[in-house]
Amino acid sequence: MSQRKLFVTTALPYANGKFHVGHIMEYIQADIWVRFQRMQGHMVHFVGADDAHGAPIMIAAEKAGKTPQEFVGEIAAGRKQYLDGFHIRFDNWHSTDSAENTELAQGIYRKLKAGGMIATRTIEQFYDPVKGMFLPDRYIKGECPVCHAKDQYGDSCEVCSSVYAPTELISPYSTLTGAAPELRSSEHFFFKLSDPKVVDFLKRWTQDGKLQPEMAKKASEWFEAGMADWDISREAPYFGIEIPDAPGKYFYVWLDAPVGYLASLKNHFDKGQAAAHWHEPSRTTQSFDAFVADPAVEQVHFIGKDIVYFHTLFWPAMLEFSARKTPSQVNVHGFITVSGEKMSKSRGTGIDPLKYLAIGMNPEWLRYYIAAKLNAKVEDVDFNPDDFIARVNADLIGKYINIASRAAGFIAKRFGGRLGIVSADGAALLVTLQEAARPLAALYDGRDFARALREIMALADKVNEYVDQNKPWELAKQAGMEARLHDVCTTCIEAFRLMTIYLKPVLPSLAAQVEGFLRSEPLVFADAARLAGEGHAISDYKHLMQRIDAKQIDQLFEAPEPATEAAAESEAATVLPGGEGIAPTITIDDFAKIDLRIAQIVACQKVEGSTKLLHLTLDAGEGRTRNVFSGIASAYQPEQLVGKLTVLVANLAPRKMKFGISEGMVLAASHADEKSEPGIYVLEPWPGAKPGMRVR
Ligand code: 2FM
Ligand code: ZN
Repeated sequence: MSQRKLFVTTALPYANGKFHVGHIMEYIQADIWVRFQRMQGHMVHFVGADDAHGAPIMIAAEKAGKTPQEFVGEIAAGRKQYLDGFHIRFDNWHSTDSAENTELAQGIYRKLKAGGMIATRTIEQFYDPVKGMFLPDRYIKGECPVCHAKDQYGDSCEVCSSVYAPTELISPYSTLTGAAPELRSSEHFFFKLSDPKVVDFLKRWTQDGKLQPEMAKKASEWFEAGMADWDISREAPYFGIEIPDAPGKYFYVWLDAPVGYLASLKNHFDKGQAAAHWHEPSRTTQSFDAFVADPAVEQVHFIGKDIVYFHTLFWPAMLEFSARKTPSQVNVHGFITVSGEKMSKSRGTGIDPLKYLAIGMNPEWLRYYIAAKLNAKVEDVDFNPDDFIARVNADLIGKYINIASRAAGFIAKRFGGRLGIVSADGAALLVTLQEAARPLAALYDGRDFARALREIMALADKVNEYVDQNKPWELAKQAGMEARLHDVCTTCIEAFRLMTIYLKPVLPSLAAQVEGFLRSEPLVFADAARLAGEGHAISDYKHLMQRIDAKQIDQLFEAPEPATEAAAESEAATVLPGGEGIAPTITIDDFAKIDLRIAQIVACQKVEGSTKLLHLTLDAGEGRTRNVFSGIASAYQPEQLVGKLTVLVANLAPRKMKFGISEGMVLAASHADEKSEPGIYVLEPWPGAKPGMRVR
């Protein structure tokens, strides 16, 4: 097998938010693939970077009172804990706001221009005269021209779903300043995607096996709809890369973002890491320029289904028409849902990756579970808590880890820690396991991790059947069965070693522990061809992995304090002094669904084991009291609250929390960023209100 040279990337995350579990899923997918390729002896450079540019980041930085560079720098500094925490091992992490990216993006643009691929056109756009800038569509709101709903975004109406141009809005306003925007014209640069040369190229490129079948099909639908030229310029002020020979004009963020893949790779090479990286099976002495031009190098992108257009049309066309190599694979995955629920853009899903780690959950449980659900198709992956517990506890621990724990003790106690001779039945079983190496490798390479893990677990079932037939714990008690006991336990340990090879891309840290236990060099796929062998000494078995405790799942999904939760719910548009924008419009019927009641706080206690929560006993005039856990302990002493009236969300579904069931939620005000602007203020009605009165 000849050695492949791989350049692998994941989508570059916008540098205005923390990672959510959707990012982690993508990185885990790519990391497993990369680790597998390295275990095959292939050479891989695996890089990421922050996607730093664009209007939203510029505006967010300004609101935070920071320069865009400071702002993205702080976000970037927070990345490592996630990546290390989930054993995601990029070779390099860089930024699109870098010297390398500026040079590369400008170079690509110059080539496109020289090749006649850039057009200029004057276009009219909304301009905020107060802010002094052209407004991206998302910063313009107004009345829907179709159904006349107020406060609709510039591109589509959330009430009637009509799609329109921002110029069609009635009484438009800038969400940045509230000013009425003016139409102004300016000159924009376009990449001529409608040029027949480009269209012909893309028609070929998208249909020759680089894309998943469903993506190739999508691309042909796009061609049928027709290719429009792509507006790649933005006017100052803009946080981005200046367009050469065009003062005051910047590349649109999506022009320089994918160039960031190359920039991070170049930065990696320039740091000298590419040549010296320890896990590299063969060192490269190529320069960055030679490497990216090398026809043998395969460029592989992992991305989500929301950014396919950019990666299968714009990006390959940019590379092709600037005389660069185009991607070899664009691997698209679906979204992650939690118990079937889609993720909110601002809040991610119910799984906070850092909380997952902080409460001591094992990152490899999640790696295993995600791998068990991922295949090569563009399908959403659902995280289902019960399924998660079952797969990890029953499969990973019950089937795989158990094999070692059942055999290792006997090897240590009865046979001086050395493996023995395997007889015919054990040998036949081991051959079956060894023969799986090739098909499993094909499944990993084809990104069908779900099927790979199913097959590995089927092998584990075979091994467990063998254990149950031979019952080492009984052999151990029988006279004269010493040799058979040694044989059976040796078979188990050899089987465990083979399974560890196959699981190592998914469970790298566990595999490293097993390598310690087996006194083995770092295992690679080729090691499946031979066994550890008679006489091989192993170490004492130490417990390898804990089972998931259902309580940890409760803790993972335990609500953050109600006030913050309500705050985080709104998908910030214009940021108000409270630190976030007004949530999307709801109707009066939506509001009527929420039953708000005056309630008296009849008792209030601290919650043992929680610094955030207070336990309130509320009387909402129902002839009974309710228990509510509220995240207000930082702001109030229990005795301050007793006897007070407040507002209760009375028809909120009861929520099981670590400390008991919470039967509703009390209303409180707070800033969106409670860290920088602390303070929680519980709502209290004017005198005269009585428990049980409805608030409307
Ligand atoms: O959708 C996103 O999060 C973009 N920041 C992805 C960019 S991928 C690449 F082009 F940089
Ligand atoms: Zn409408």
